[in-house]
Amino acid sequence: MKQAVVTGAAGFIGSHLTEHLVRRGYRVRAFVHYRASGTRGWLDDSDVAADVETVAGDVRDHDSVRRALAGADVVFHLAALVGIPYSYVTPQAYVRTNVDGALNVLEAAREHAIERLVLTSTSEVYGSARNVPMDETHPVRCQSPYAATKAAADQLALSYQRSFAVPVVLARPFNAYGPRQSDRALIPSVIAQLHAGERVALGNLHPTRDFTFVEDVVRAFVAIAEEDALVGEAVHVGSGSERSVGEVVQLIARLMGREAVIDVQGERRRPAASEVERLVCDPSKLCAATGWAPEVDFETGLRRTIDWIDERRAHFRPGEYRT
Ligand SMILES: NC(=O)c1ccc[n+]([C@@H]2O[C@H](COP(=O)([O-])OP(=O)(O)OC[C@H]3O[C@@H](n4cnc5c(N)ncnc54)[C@H](O)[C@@H]3O)[C@@H](O)[C@H]2O)c1
Repeated sequence: MKQAVVTGAAGFIGSHLTEHLVRRGYRVRAFVHYRASGTRGWLDDSDVAADVETVAGDVRDHDSVRRALAGADVVFHLAALVGIPYSYVTPQAYVRTNVDGALNVLEAAREHAIERLVLTSTSEVYGSARNVPMDETHPVRCQSPYAATKAAADQLALSYQRSFAVPVVLARPFNAYGPRQSDRALIPSVIAQLHAGERVALGNLHPTRDFTFVEDVVRAFVAIAEEDALVGEAVHVGSGSERSVGEVVQLIARLMGREAVIDVQGERRRPAASEVERLVCDPSKLCAATGWAPEVDFETGLRRTIDWIDERRAHFRPGEYRT
């Protein structure tokens, strides 16, 4: 039985990945951000909680990362600060967490001779698409501090593969969505606002994204880890379909049986040159190497997300804008 370590395991994608790995027969160690309360985030209520070893620490701290990776065969590094607006406010924190954190994981992977390290990148490193669909040769042009820290971590990782033969692969998701995503993200934010009423406050309606249901994303992560031919490569994870923010709002409203009254608010808008207008994934490399294909269509995934938020309405604060 292989020993997997997931950093960021308490978070949205990390908790689904942890569950998927347990069900696939891995022994899983969850590296979670230390909290005095002892919470394991979304893993606290997970069906697999009892099957997961938990290590609390901080990716900015080399010693805790080193301890967490001891004895691992495969490591999935997801821990990061992820909000784009918050990266305008605290860029240094993003460098510490996303770049220094990745460096600590790379050093520990090198020291422990890990068999495979999957580092989580993001489509945001490309900025607005120059051509679509976007394959892995698309030029990198970061438009936010968040994207820049992720691109820096990507380059560090590839340099560790070339310099020290650390068996790294970059999994580069486009937009993931589904249960447990923070309501700072578009889809949960719209659903939570529509549960509360008809008014939907947003920044921009025209940017387009490629949305993939979180369960499909984590299947892709594991497929990428298990395919030797992908070492040293970046690999896109996305559905290949493009939807504008405005279309997503209308679809969610229809599925919820609501009329959406859209209120475009300046404070929710990114600075013009930082707004990524278009992201559309070409997942051919992933599909060809692993046989992966998305299994959850957009309407089904949205319905599942709507139902999940409906059961937890009390935890959402839809009227409030948070970076
Ligand atoms: N959600 C998406 O659409 C998307 C798209 C592309 C890439 N990604 C990447 O996927 C990964 C997971 O993102 P997510 O959407 O699940 O976000 P998330 O915020 O739910 O998960 C990130 C996790 O990292 C942890 N973390 C933050 N700082 C830490 C620290 N100093 N030490 C230890 N842990 C720390 C957080 O506690 C959290 O559990 C990130 O690397 C993100 O950049 C996400």
